[in-house]
Amino acid sequence: MIKKSIQQNDYSIFKTMQYLGSKHRSITKIIEQSILYSKNGYILDLFAGSTTVSQAFSSIGKKTISNDIQQFSKAFANATLQINLEEKDLISSLDKLDKLISNHEEYKYYNTFKKFTNKEEKLLDSKNISELLSLYAAFPLIWNINRKETIEIQKLHHRFKKNIDKPGFEIGPITTLHYAGSYFGIKQSLDIDFLRTMIEQEKRQGEISNWQYNMFLTCLLTVVSKIVFSAGKHFAQPVKATGIINTPVLNKRLIIDRSYSVVELFKETVTSFIQYSKNTSHCDKNIALNKSMEELLKSDFDLPVIDIIYADPPYTAQQYSRFYHIPEIIIEYKIPSLQVHKGSITKGIYPNNKYKSNFCSKNKVKDAFKDLFLLTKKLDSVLILSYSESKNSSTGNDRMIDFNSLDRLQKDIIPDYTSLKIEFDFEYRQLNKSKFVDKNKDDKEILIVYSRKLK
Ligand SMILES: C[S@@+](CC[C@H](N)C(=O)[O-])C[C@H]1O[C@@H](n2cnc3c(N)ncnc32)[C@H](O)[C@@H]1O
Repeated sequence: MIKKSIQQNDYSIFKTMQYLGSKHRSITKIIEQSILYSKNGYILDLFAGSTTVSQAFSSIGKKTISNDIQQFSKAFANATLQINLEEKDLISSLDKLDKLISNHEEYKYYNTFKKFTNKEEKLLDSKNISELLSLYAAFPLIWNINRKETIEIQKLHHRFKKNIDKPGFEIGPITTLHYAGSYFGIKQSLDIDFLRTMIEQEKRQGEISNWQYNMFLTCLLTVVSKIVFSAGKHFAQPVKATGIINTPVLNKRLIIDRSYSVVELFKETVTSFIQYSKNTSHCDKNIALNKSMEELLKSDFDLPVIDIIYADPPYTAQQYSRFYHIPEIIIEYKIPSLQVHKGSITKGIYPNNKYKSNFCSKNKVKDAFKDLFLLTKKLDSVLILSYSESKNSSTGNDRMIDFNSLDRLQKDIIPDYTSLKIEFDFEYRQLNKSKFVDKNKDDKEILIVYSRKLK
């Protein structure tokens, strides 16, 4: 639905998840460059992640395809790009929200874990961190060998073990039995499970539309990203469930993060999402995909005319599927089979079979960029590539590929294209430390525009 005329820089963005490498800061430059090459076709945001860039394209009226290998990104795209949104969805969403939350009392697992949630509440009120950590250490997670379980919880464990990789809606609370006490609190985990289960139930019963389903899922993950207790708000380093956290800053952070009410935050997020959706104009021909770049290249998948591929792939060894494994599990809601290393569950509580991107492997990165250039050729599009150059190789965030290699690949695969490099600088800020500016890092953001040479 286009509600107002398209103007340059007139874009608006709903911040979904806190996402590593999200392009919030460089959005103006990306849009300025892209509109120079855009005609009547689509812009394909090939690695959409948080959907920040897709939203910006669409909100200036550009037909947008938002794609990413992570399933949560597709839910974000469906919701934020207003795919299949009907006017009546906006009118009824707050009533649907009330109905969804009103089932709170009926979610039976609140009772199963009441002893733990009552104790957690008291310890949070009294800010008793060491007791809180002891409570978490004894919590009967599926993989916690120190657990003491009631018969009811034993039965849940048994059911989980028998149903690995199957949908958990009828089996039990996945978040609670895998992550309570590490990434989230116990009550918070139960609330996440309750909301995820209710969203599915309302969808199955035809009570909510497709758009509302994706909107509720997006809002739930926005909340999950806000409350998670981890470095950088991702899901790679949870707090240890045992021992003491020795820094006052982290102690304070733990109490703050654990004191968030998931249900209250969910209500607030849905309310502001609905407000955002009422105030924002989006193109009405957007498409959300959940494919790998390689699948798009190989398949005969019918894509419309694409003027521009905007590509913001990963550039380091850090796999996004590792940093964001929990949002993916909450979206899919299948009981994960957890990765075991030297006889124990990994520190990050990672699942097996995470997607491994070729862009994050020194051995495969050239193949990945080769495929990207081949896709550009196949779609006969302009390619606008975001590249972030690290000044400092001691950060452990070395880039997988350098410019010279990129140049060689381009000349080999799309020799009839020219490249234009656009540099823009801004100070590097560490996640969650907006006042802290690290001069050594000072990563440079670059756009490279590959377009056909004029004949
Ligand atoms: C740097 S992030 C993109 C951030 C995004 N521009 C934003 O503003 O949020 C890179 C994304 O590429 C996705 N990805 C990695 N390899 C992929 C592949 N081969 N095909 C599709 N998506 C891939 C990851 O899941 C991740 O979301």
